[in-house]
Amino acid sequence: GSAPGQAAARPIAMGSAAEIGAFRSDPRYREALKRYCDVVVPMNDLKWEALRHDRARFDFSGADELVAFAEANRKALRGHTLLWGEALPPWVKEMKTRAEAERELVNHIEVVVDRYKGRIATWDVVNEVIKYDPTSGGPWRDTIWQRLLGPEHVEIAFRTAARTDPKARLVLNDFHFEEPDPVAAARRKVALDICRRLRDKGIPIHGVGMQAHLYAEKQVDTDGLQRFMRDLDELGLDVEITELDVIDWKMPADAALRDKHSAALVSTFLNAVVSAKRPKAIVTWGLTDRYSWVGETFPRKDDAKARPLPLDADYRPKPMMAVLERYR
Ligand code: XIL
Repeated sequence: GSAPGQAAARPIAMGSAAEIGAFRSDPRYREALKRYCDVVVPMNDLKWEALRHDRARFDFSGADELVAFAEANRKALRGHTLLWGEALPPWVKEMKTRAEAERELVNHIEVVVDRYKGRIATWDVVNEVIKYDPTSGGPWRDTIWQRLLGPEHVEIAFRTAARTDPKARLVLNDFHFEEPDPVAAARRKVALDICRRLRDKGIPIHGVGMQAHLYAEKQVDTDGLQRFMRDLDELGLDVEITELDVIDWKMPADAALRDKHSAALVSTFLNAVVSAKRPKAIVTWGLTDRYSWVGETFPRKDDAKARPLPLDADYRPKPMMAVLERYR
């Protein structure tokens, strides 16, 4: 379909993250992935915590299962993620030297990217490397990688991914780009600076991923977003929406009201982005309210359930789904 205000817009690939527990236990979850996704992202199974529980070996069991499902159903794949400061097994956080960190990071990226070479088309090479407020002691987030390798951790990651699969699309993924506050403005600027610096050094980067975990009680900065889109465009970079959902913990309990509000917020956000630049993909962080990190990470004060996603807990499409399908 085409979006409102868009003349004959080309459809945008839609997708979701897939959580392995729900994927294995719930046939309706698998059906929803088949029906609503052009792109599938293993939600947790490509993180170090899942792959590298043992230092000596890689455990690809969960990732292989989801990749096989995507391939069998002709879905594209995004890989999430090669470098992050979270979801790390204890041994990674105990590393002590620069040499050790570099050796482990390079080896990890080589093994993982090589295994899915030509199959995982796009990688979130780095995730959340920008400090929350980069204007105070930034721009880099304090992680084990930054502590041991300094700013070079990002260059090493992109360079290694590019060398291992020269055809892969390589993305810098991060959050808090759309909020109407000075922090978001600073973060957008830092993201552009990082991309520019990589480009200047001849290190391949193809796009920026906006997680877009939208806060229901906040506005989105449509002007700021549109400027960001134009700046990315000038740099020749793609944009992707990588983890869309709505954090509705501060909203009144009424389900219909929340669903309507969230759909309107998603619509405002997507219209702002798409009217300035067509994203390569729009990916939600799950499909159904039955399974989502939002309820766990942002617990409500009442006993209502979080409603962050386009399908309700019984897989019925919510107003948010109609908004998404306008672009598909
Ligand atoms: C979350 C998953 O959804 C949860 O299942 C897991 O327990 C923790 O991680 N930003 C990211 C994602 O980049 O990897 C996070 O995913 C959500 C926030």
